[in-house]
Amino acid sequence: MKIVSIVGARPQFIKAATVSRKLRANPSIRELLLHTGQHYDENMSDVFFRELNIPQPDFNLGIGSGSHAVQTGLMLQGIETVLLREKPDMTLVYGDTNSTLAGALASTKLHIPVAHIESGLRSFNRRMPEEINRIVTDRISDILFAPTQTAVHNLDHEGLVNNTCFSGDVMYDSVLYYQSRLLNDPDQYQTPCIPEKYLLATIHRAENTDDLSNLKRIFSAFSRLPFEIVLPIHPRTKKILTGTIEIPSRVHIIEPVGYLQMLKLTFDSLKVLTDSGGLQKEAYFIGKQCITLRTETEWIETLHDNWNIVTGTDPDLIVKAVNMATPDAPRKKDFGDGHSADIIEKKLLSL
Ligand code: UD1
Ligand code: UDP
Repeated sequence: MKIVSIVGARPQFIKAATVSRKLRANPSIRELLLHTGQHYDENMSDVFFRELNIPQPDFNLGIGSGSHAVQTGLMLQGIETVLLREKPDMTLVYGDTNSTLAGALASTKLHIPVAHIESGLRSFNRRMPEEINRIVTDRISDILFAPTQTAVHNLDHEGLVNNTCFSGDVMYDSVLYYQSRLLNDPDQYQTPCIPEKYLLATIHRAENTDDLSNLKRIFSAFSRLPFEIVLPIHPRTKKILTGTIEIPSRVHIIEPVGYLQMLKLTFDSLKVLTDSGGLQKEAYFIGKQCITLRTETEWIETLHDNWNIVTGTDPDLIVKAVNMATPDAPRKKDFGDGHSADIIEKKLLSL
């Protein structure tokens, strides 16, 4: 079976690391990796390939940044050229970025079946570009790998249950796999603040970066918090922040870090504040309370017992949430058993 896996953005490299490792261990599968080039900075792309031993991409389209239409259009052209040449039996797309949408659309128009990993997520907020990407990708994909039962339910609601396979979450597989590497090498990754005394924050969503008032409200909340805050900054946020908002002295802005350093920062943090989808889940897997700087979350399983608190950008709500007691209720096993990649591999081979 010849598979072309399509990636382009940071969270997709992390997901692909786990799935690719599994697929490439099977002699009856030949996987080719196509990188659209959506993310291209060393610390947004190369670091993940190097650190997570992801095979070098067989194709890098080098598309880079642009408006949604320009970026997606260029990807469609580039992906189509590769698929026409390689004629794979199937393509694999991940998550909800423009690379996901372009990969699924280019493939299905060539009658090449598409498998979508992390399918069925819905925020029910169509102003999010990711929500459009998810809805369209799920509608045109042939196999929908759902990470949670909520995702299965969403797909069922949209009449897509016959294409759905509950796989669990490959990001849970990743945390389990790589945390043992961290434990084996405790001195390699350091945290810049005293463990358990700092908050870990990330911000990159369009709603929080393109709307300066939202970004200002987040930083206003940060200035009221009695904790050091470590903030690995996404390049999108860095561009907007520079010169527009005064950074409180307790906020330590650092360049984006590799996945293992990020896991270490999460393990050592007191709590996590984020608008990232992936980091909300990692906080939950690792047992850190998350404050979600959005008005809704797709990962509703993480909300029980206040493990995840959705505050949006209201400074009062953010401060209140950070001051809440850290939960001690057990976390549920809603994201599979850490063997999602095995389930995906088996299902693909059964087709
Ligand atoms: C994209 C995804 C988002 C995902 C995020 C993961 C879409 C619509 N959005 O958002 O779902 O959560 O990736 O991080 O696909 N930039 C750089 N260097 C880079 C990459 C980006 O400087 O290596 C800057 C550019 O100014 C660019 C901006 O960041 O215009 C936004 O990048 P883009 O890939 O369009 O979207 P993200 O915000 O990264
Ligand atoms: N991440 C990372 N370095 C960073 C920030 C995030 O490795 O500096 C990881 C994070 O641990 C998670 C993934 O990137 O695994 C989440 O990606 P991101 O927040 O960019 O996108 P989203 O998940 O919101 O689509």
